[in-house]
Amino acid sequence: MPRSVSKVVIPAAGLGTRFLPATKALPKEMLPVVDKPAIQYVVEEAVRAGIPDVLFVTGRNKNALENHFDRATELEAILTRKGDEQRLSKVAESTELANVHYVRQGDPRGLGHAVLRSRAHVGANSFAVLLGDDIIDERDPLLERLLQVHDERDACVVALMEVDPSQTHMYGIATVEKTEQPDVVRITGLVEKPQGGRAPSNLAIVGRYVLKPEIYPVLERTKPGRGGEIQLTDALLAMASDATTGGVFGVIFRGRRYDTGDRLDYIKANVQLAVEREDIGPGLRSWIKEFAATLED
Ligand code: G1P
Repeated sequence: MPRSVSKVVIPAAGLGTRFLPATKALPKEMLPVVDKPAIQYVVEEAVRAGIPDVLFVTGRNKNALENHFDRATELEAILTRKGDEQRLSKVAESTELANVHYVRQGDPRGLGHAVLRSRAHVGANSFAVLLGDDIIDERDPLLERLLQVHDERDACVVALMEVDPSQTHMYGIATVEKTEQPDVVRITGLVEKPQGGRAPSNLAIVGRYVLKPEIYPVLERTKPGRGGEIQLTDALLAMASDATTGGVFGVIFRGRRYDTGDRLDYIKANVQLAVEREDIGPGLRSWIKEFAATLED
């Protein structure tokens, strides 16, 4: 069955200030997780779900990101001359991965505004939005499930995860009702980054969405919200309360997610993904055990 969703939008215009000075000249999306830029994992996820058409919404200083998904002719020529097939294939991996397109966000007016910038490319079809800070383990196919639920219900779908109540102020938080499917809920309320213990639940939006094109006019009408930014969460709340657009559903994800959005989580993501690797995993595992033993409580 052909997929009703054929385009992925990846907002990548953020300044990455949490990682300064590393992100002074390097886009945060290009920070390596083990030996691959974080953003490549996200593009690989889109391709695995059968959607190789990727639109990046970028800003200034994102040249390194564009270069990463383009050919590197000089480097390829040197590796070809050396007959280094293995490294050559690593260089080619990201070039051949997807059909990549770019649009600039211009004014940094928030996630909702970034998504609105995809309108000309996406047109009148549903599309997926993947946020670069989240890496979803390839053994836990979340995007595929969101696409399935979108197709079944003809509605917007977001990924939700239970988080510790101390973390709710960092996420969009949902109020939900059960459906007949155990991993699917209907969203009845949403609040972006609730402060001061006012979260209505501990169900947080993680950075995966499948959206209907009806979101665009809603985003256009959405006023700046939390942080003075146009919030995707606010537009989704408007969609959730409008039955004519099919409402908004959540898929509760219980799989493995690695957050690369702040420094501590970024280090954890590197370690978690590195111990799984065949090449460096065994060595790292035994070193971690030895190292942990040297740490005092
Ligand atoms: C964004 C969304 C938020 C969501 C989060 C997931 O926030 O606005 O609703 O929970 O992504 O990572 P950001 O982390 O970009 O500030």
